[in-house]
Amino acid sequence: MRHTTAASAAAPRTGHRAPPPSQSPDGPALGASVERREGHEKVRGTARYAAEYHPHGRVYAWPVPATVSRGRVVRVDDAEALDLPGVLAVLTPDTAPRLGDAGDAVLRVLQDDRVPHRGWYVALVVAETLEAARAAAAAVHVDYETEPHDAALTADHPDAYIPESVNGGYPAVRERGDPDAAFEAAQVRVDTGYRVPPEHNQPMEPHAATAEWHGDRLTLHDSDQGASAVGAALAALFELPEDHVTVVAEHVGGGFGSKGTPRPHAVLAAMAARQVGRPVTLALPRRHLPAIVGHRPPTLHRIRLGADRGGRLTSLVHEITTQTSRVKEFVEQAATPGRTMYGCEHSRTVHRAVPLDVPTPSWMRAPGVAPGMYALESAMDELAGTLGLDPIELRVRNDTDREPDSDRPFSSRHLVDCLREGADRFGWAGRDPRPGSDRRGALLIGTGVASALYPVHFQPSLATAHALPDGSHVVRVAAADIGTGSRTVLAQIAADALGVPLDRVRAEVGSSALPTAPLAGGSSGTASWGTAVHEACTALAGRLAEHRGPLPPEGLRETADTSDAADRGAGYARDAFGAHFAEVQVDTDSGEVRIRRLLGVFAAGHVLNARTARSQFLGGMTMGAGMALMEGSTMEPSFGDFTETDLALYHVPSHADIADIEAHWIDEEDAHLNPMGSKGIGEIGIVGTAAAVGNAVHHATGVRYRELPLTPDRIL
Ligand code: MOS
Repeated sequence: MRHTTAASAAAPRTGHRAPPPSQSPDGPALGASVERREGHEKVRGTARYAAEYHPHGRVYAWPVPATVSRGRVVRVDDAEALDLPGVLAVLTPDTAPRLGDAGDAVLRVLQDDRVPHRGWYVALVVAETLEAARAAAAAVHVDYETEPHDAALTADHPDAYIPESVNGGYPAVRERGDPDAAFEAAQVRVDTGYRVPPEHNQPMEPHAATAEWHGDRLTLHDSDQGASAVGAALAALFELPEDHVTVVAEHVGGGFGSKGTPRPHAVLAAMAARQVGRPVTLALPRRHLPAIVGHRPPTLHRIRLGADRGGRLTSLVHEITTQTSRVKEFVEQAATPGRTMYGCEHSRTVHRAVPLDVPTPSWMRAPGVAPGMYALESAMDELAGTLGLDPIELRVRNDTDREPDSDRPFSSRHLVDCLREGADRFGWAGRDPRPGSDRRGALLIGTGVASALYPVHFQPSLATAHALPDGSHVVRVAAADIGTGSRTVLAQIAADALGVPLDRVRAEVGSSALPTAPLAGGSSGTASWGTAVHEACTALAGRLAEHRGPLPPEGLRETADTSDAADRGAGYARDAFGAHFAEVQVDTDSGEVRIRRLLGVFAAGHVLNARTARSQFLGGMTMGAGMALMEGSTMEPSFGDFTETDLALYHVPSHADIADIEAHWIDEEDAHLNPMGSKGIGEIGIVGTAAAVGNAVHHATGVRYRELPLTPDRIL
């Protein structure tokens, strides 16, 4: 629609399309605040997601979850389902194609009759329409032989064990000095415990795939955080050469870790398409996600802090108990932050896992670190209260320039600067430390602070850089853009290394047909893909500088492979740090906690794009606000299932829940990171938020709540 009236020309609204701002900033490309290249496509609805591909003859699949908590499938009666109009097939553990091994037990769907937990898929219906598939799935009757199950996590569970290692490859136990004796001898002691409930990633776009076979070649449009890994898994499962599988994930509607590993929807879509000889779309119903795509498992924390009267830590003991499934072991690394965070001579950090008949946990934004820092930073606030010391001052007194666990120096650590700058910006000075001191009618107001950290991760990647005769450049890497702006930032990295304007560079990402790349996870994507892009572009720039005359029609091309690159960080502990501040109000009539202000200051290396970085920080903080106030589900022990499976019951923050939110950063110079000098920014925003909010609620009320989320029923 085109508006021609004077009024609409003066104040353009619907139908007016402003030209996109220049993609070439005046200054350097790296660090510039440029908008996401696919942003216009997304807001106009033309960006296509995995379930929106319509290959000719495309049909739909709908999975059937187990309705028992543990046992075996005795019989699948599909007669009624197959009689319904439009139904093409019902895949069962008896009839589904046999799969090879991809080294991940959660992908072995419909391969045997075991039901390891409620919600595990036991059949898949394929039909001409989505509605027919869903109706037929409800008409599949499954007989089970049930077995007794156990879905109740307790801190003293008899089956608790200490695993060999925890998620991320960290050792389950670390001990230095004599933490028990140091705790007993400490002048001041805090012995406390916290509980973080199961939490669910619940991305805006549920997991989906559209699969199409051409002979023994598979094309899969998928929603994932890493097309290379999904392609490799499908090749292994269907026993194909890797170049026979192409996984395309051009746009991804969030993942938060749940799409970081290949998921059953991709396998089932490919199986179904092979079985019926037609392209198949499988979009998981949102209510299936908690049992199928991983979740943050509950963690039970015990923390003991010993300190001298000056507030210096003398003993730090953090022990956690969490649950894993019977399908595969996943142990949330929630005791690891205590190994890095504060200087302390005597320390023990321990992870215990209880195998239960429950869905398999997995990565959710800042795995381990988010729940671990919630507990540790809440306990630090308790210690500050016991000491009568300002909570910022307590953290400053325990700052360290060497990582206590490894005794390596930090490559850069600006925690204290984040705390100080945050205190200035937030207006911390003059705060009345007495809990419950600010009452305004029925409201109690309080403020809180917490530190944050997130480790620097890096994974090898390939990338190519291509100079074309028209003066443009293309970089190619199988990176994922899950809404973070990675294709934009990779173009910035390329333009910087090539020394050309940003609008001369295109970045192709989101397909396993591109140079093999690691996933978007562990806040490592930009560092990992970006290093390969930087190297390929640097090599290409060198060749271009020497080249005389016009380029050949095919242009010039360089490939980088960082698997053998020397690690600039050898010998250093590398982490991003941050400080979170929160102001809350607690309604003493309703028990409702509202966050009035959230402010974060981060030190995460060199920030490569101010606009997308800010969005990442704010997104993480918003997710942290959800963790603090509303997110969490209940594992119902009698059913072995989560009770809050959709967004009506599993609450996440809406705009109205986030009043005033600010993210700032300190630009760090750190030569021990990567050619861009960046640290990851995708996860640190969630890390300290929940503790800052919880500490603010304590300051408001004088009550220490030790279980998340801080819902009105707990507050009252
Ligand atoms: Mo993130 S949970 O490492 O995708």
